[in-house]
Amino acid sequence: RPDEVPRLQDTPDLPSLRDAARGCRACPLWEPATQTVFGEGPVDARVLLLGEQPGDTEDLTGRPFSGPAGRLLDRALAELGLDRNTFYLTNAVKHFRFERRGKRRLHRNPEAMHVEACRPWLAREIEAVRPEAIVCLGATAAMALLGRGVRLMEERGRWRELHDGTRALLTVHPAWVLRQQDGAAREAAYAALVADLALLRGPVD
Ligand code: URA
Repeated sequence: RPDEVPRLQDTPDLPSLRDAARGCRACPLWEPATQTVFGEGPVDARVLLLGEQPGDTEDLTGRPFSGPAGRLLDRALAELGLDRNTFYLTNAVKHFRFERRGKRRLHRNPEAMHVEACRPWLAREIEAVRPEAIVCLGATAAMALLGRGVRLMEERGRWRELHDGTRALLTVHPAWVLRQQDGAAREAAYAALVADLALLRGPVD
């Protein structure tokens, strides 16, 4: 419901967007979550990395990719000589969705309605940063950017062009790499992530 999204200035800057997003009530996820986890990084970043939603750690720290998936992402980037601080990092959904099991909070995938409710924030972040390229980490990010019907595993690993000329790259989510049970599968998943992110070293085309 649009009336529950805080009103924004016409040309918002990132700090005021971040401020406004603190009070977002556009979907029910705000209530059990600790805080809104807004994107962070340089406003002039050439590349925007888009994740799914904050995890348990991010919900507590308030910073995107500050938990185990973020550490894996950092390692993959470092292996390629890339520094996360040069990217703008954000998520399709800005509140942690979870289920309580005793003391544990188990991650639940966001639904399409959560992605929809959160879309105005992502749209404003993209407008503010105007990246040359957007990297979607995982299926939820790909859906948030490109709509339903994206086949992540078929379409990952190559540049595509959006209507406005921005380039997009789809790859797997670092948390999916961590979820692989056996060592060989995890290594293969990690190698796929690194191979896809290697495209960021060359020209964006
Ligand atoms: N997974 C995400 O998609 N985003 C985060 O910020 C952390 C984990």
